[in-house]
Amino acid sequence: MNSVVVVGAQWGDEGKGKVVDYFAKQANTIVRYAGGNNAGHTIVVKGEKTILHLIPSGVLHKGKVGVLGNGMVVDPAVLLHEMEGLSKKGIKLTSKNFFISERAHLIMPYHKRIDLAREKAKSKKGKIGTTGRGIGPAYEDKATRAGIRFVDLLNEKVFEERLRAVLKEKNAYLKHVFKERGFSFAAVQKEYLGYGRLLKRYVTDVSQLLDGMLMKGKRILFEGAQGTLLDIDHGTYPFVTSSNAGVGGVLAGCGVSPYFLQEIVGVIKAYTTRVGGGPFPTELTDAVGQHLRREGAEYGATTGRARRCGWFDAVVGRYGVRVNGFTGLALTKLDTLTGLDPIRICTGYRVGRKRITEFPSDIRQMEQAKPIYEEMPGWKEDIRGARKVEDLPRNARRYVKKLESLVGVPFFLMSVGPQRAQSIVIENPFET
Ligand code: GDP
Ligand code: IMO
Ligand code: MG
Repeated sequence: MNSVVVVGAQWGDEGKGKVVDYFAKQANTIVRYAGGNNAGHTIVVKGEKTILHLIPSGVLHKGKVGVLGNGMVVDPAVLLHEMEGLSKKGIKLTSKNFFISERAHLIMPYHKRIDLAREKAKSKKGKIGTTGRGIGPAYEDKATRAGIRFVDLLNEKVFEERLRAVLKEKNAYLKHVFKERGFSFAAVQKEYLGYGRLLKRYVTDVSQLLDGMLMKGKRILFEGAQGTLLDIDHGTYPFVTSSNAGVGGVLAGCGVSPYFLQEIVGVIKAYTTRVGGGPFPTELTDAVGQHLRREGAEYGATTGRARRCGWFDAVVGRYGVRVNGFTGLALTKLDTLTGLDPIRICTGYRVGRKRITEFPSDIRQMEQAKPIYEEMPGWKEDIRGARKVEDLPRNARRYVKKLESLVGVPFFLMSVGPQRAQSIVIENPFET
């Protein structure tokens, strides 16, 4: 297999960073296709933790190429800071091993201010709980054709024209709608032209680059950010992010042919978490929820917010298989369930008097959905040392089998701890 896509199957933070890092060993190139620095992908190698927000997780291996696709929105200051952090760890990104799409959109200072101001103005119930990184306003500008891309930044005249026009509107909007300060044209221009000079050497036509690599038989790993239920089209709208986080984002966000997408790996936690607002049928606010948060260290990698925790939801799992075409799953954080007995699995919802087993589009149905559970016996043994399925206690094996049969696709990998080595590989998607 020449290309593998890794997609979050739930509401993000499933452990994509760890899974991408694991499979990246077999890849030549790792590509982020959507989102921006709302993502926080954690990799732990030999006890050393790295959190990446923009740069693909696979670059921690030596000799890999990292690519930012056109579907991303990039905050150049955050990118430069992240590159510097990696450089201090001995990972040098150069114009030979790191590329940014000319067509990727820039996150501008007004995007962040608008994002924060909008959230502040919303009622408690209406708050999306965005990461405040300017993601929504940047994608909004892309859709209204007011966005500024890297290719625009690199042409001083074009950049000046576009910035001047858009800034006038943004300043008026900030001032009149939110009573917020606007931005000085000269200051933003100077700041961004500086970023342009520093990043110019990495900017290229990514579609052409990837096509060339694929034609030569190079192995490409596409790294999803966020998750299926945060996808702007298929997620729990409006409590979603503003990009196609699912597999659909790969084609639009990289300019590659669907012909090349072979294995599609859904990363799924052995339970469920979400950060921010919006419906979450299996959420637990009791001692079990606290167990999951404590044992799973469920605090946001980007914002540090406590994540909401709940039981595994097979309705969500099956939905992910349908809308992404997962050919297999990577199950993460099985170790977090150790000590819980019984363990529950949601197999459907009750909405009023109706029983539903398909994920509803209507947010109001989702808000009313009461989970229907099956119970499984738990286990007490520490499983973090397991390296093959047979090392797992009987009840853990039964739990995993049950999830596999409910979701309907096999597991490529099971993760039993945050470290790279704490993994049980059943099948490598690059070797199918
Ligand atoms: P991502 O956004 O999908 O990459 O996930 P995050 O990095 O935001 O959150 C996943 C968290 O779980 C990180 O702290 C990882 O180090 C950690 N993690 C990943 N896999 C496992 C696992 O199997 N067990 C445990 N205990 N932690 C894990
Ligand atoms: P990774 O890639 C979890 C959530 C935010 C909020 C909503 C919209 O680490 O899995 P945004 O800032 O994108 O406009 O926020 O989406 N969100 C995430 N939740 N993991 C992420 O990324 C997320 N990226 C955005 O919490 O609810
Ligand atoms: Mg994350």
